[in-house]
Amino acid sequence: MTPIDEYLASQADRFEQELCQLLRIPSVSTDPAFRDDVRRAAEWLAGRFGQLGLTTELIETSGNPLVVAESPPVEGAPTVLVYGHYDVQPAAPLDQWNSPPFTPTRRDGAIYARGASDDKGQMLTHLFSAEAWIVVCQGLPLNLKFLIEGEEEVGSGGLAGFLAEHSDRLACDCIVVSDGSQFGPGQPAITFGLRGVAYFEVVLTGPSRDLHSGSFGGSVANPAVALSGMLSALYDIERGKILVPGFYDDVIPISEQQRDQLSMLPFNEKQYLAQLGVSEPAGEAGYTTLERRWARPSFDVCGLTSGYQGEGAKTIIPDQASAKFSFRLVPNQDPAKIAASLRPMLSSLCPPGISMELRDLGGSPGVLVPLDSPFVQAAAHAIEQAFGRSPLFTREGGSIPIVASLHETLEADTLLLGWGQDDDDTHSPNEKFSLADFHRGIRASARLWRELSRVAAKG
Ligand code: BES
Ligand code: MN
Ligand code: MN
Repeated sequence: MTPIDEYLASQADRFEQELCQLLRIPSVSTDPAFRDDVRRAAEWLAGRFGQLGLTTELIETSGNPLVVAESPPVEGAPTVLVYGHYDVQPAAPLDQWNSPPFTPTRRDGAIYARGASDDKGQMLTHLFSAEAWIVVCQGLPLNLKFLIEGEEEVGSGGLAGFLAEHSDRLACDCIVVSDGSQFGPGQPAITFGLRGVAYFEVVLTGPSRDLHSGSFGGSVANPAVALSGMLSALYDIERGKILVPGFYDDVIPISEQQRDQLSMLPFNEKQYLAQLGVSEPAGEAGYTTLERRWARPSFDVCGLTSGYQGEGAKTIIPDQASAKFSFRLVPNQDPAKIAASLRPMLSSLCPPGISMELRDLGGSPGVLVPLDSPFVQAAAHAIEQAFGRSPLFTREGGSIPIVASLHETLEADTLLLGWGQDDDDTHSPNEKFSLADFHRGIRASARLWRELSRVAAKG
């Protein structure tokens, strides 16, 4: 064991306890009721970076604060920007949690809590590895900048503004993001693609109040029926195609080489479906499950509300119906273009007597990052040493809204090094992060700083 590994082993319990401290703060960014908690999470982090002796600043934005921390300069060494997020998704549905979402609980070798994997646990691996270097080697071998934000789960609006005005503060040679998954347990991955997203909410309003459906049914439009029809018109379930005009115009077909590469991955579809509690796969005709997840667009209804939800039958025409829905996009698709095509389509589908409000809840483009970078090689080495296995090169289906802009604005190579697992249940009840992955992530991160430090900085 290297002295750094020895230090990490000796501090393992404390690292877990500190992760639990952060997990106890319910920093849900989408719900204004948690505003103070979101700020408390930022302050906790800033305090923690300060303790490490990093120059730390809590930066106000149009939204939630950023935490930016910098290690002391190391002449001639490359600069690495670590991006992560301290905000989390809502914990609902609460009754499906086996332990309370903001009372981190250790069970079966994992910590269960909202944010355990996405992204508090993954993000902290880089803080703890930096601590090890600072304590054991009296400093890091390169220049580290941490950029941890509190609005990733709501589209990163505040950070986008900061990046547009102060990109000089984030100048770097390489960006490191741990906010995704390995290919499987014990099989690490370097991710080279993420999907984008375009998210909407539609609200249909009909009669001024719920009406008796016997007295009035058939004579006025029912908002729930209208909504069902409008949503159905967006998507051909049988062929798995999105029907918004022009939706596929900018989709770059998956190359044969890419299809071959994805088909070589040791993907076990049976196990995948079993883990999700689903009997059959579904999606776009002519594509494999990995292609559908990572390299093709998709349509999802994320929330659907209307009418009577209580026990038994109630015969009404609801006064309103609403849906939250999203399109996952592949690189080169523009969320604004999708919104511009969707709006007139839905308007024309909306029946007489119903008024429609379409809210654009934000979007972000997909990304593909080049793999022919010396930083990628260095990361592969670091991962191999810590995991005892070389990483696979994969894409992922999720979105990290700011990554495309960071990559382009800072002109830096981007390393997407997810330490999580597909079954961490991020955004689901009972989110968890395996302690083995947490500690392996810290060890890989510690080696990453060594390996990246040997790559030449930009001129
Ligand atoms: N960490 C995820 C993104 C992710 C998921 C990357 C799975 C790789 C694999 C991130 O926190 C997230 O959930 N992003 C949102 C963004 C959206 C709210 C704009 C997403 O993908 O839904
Ligand atoms: Mn995340
Ligand atoms: Mn998330």
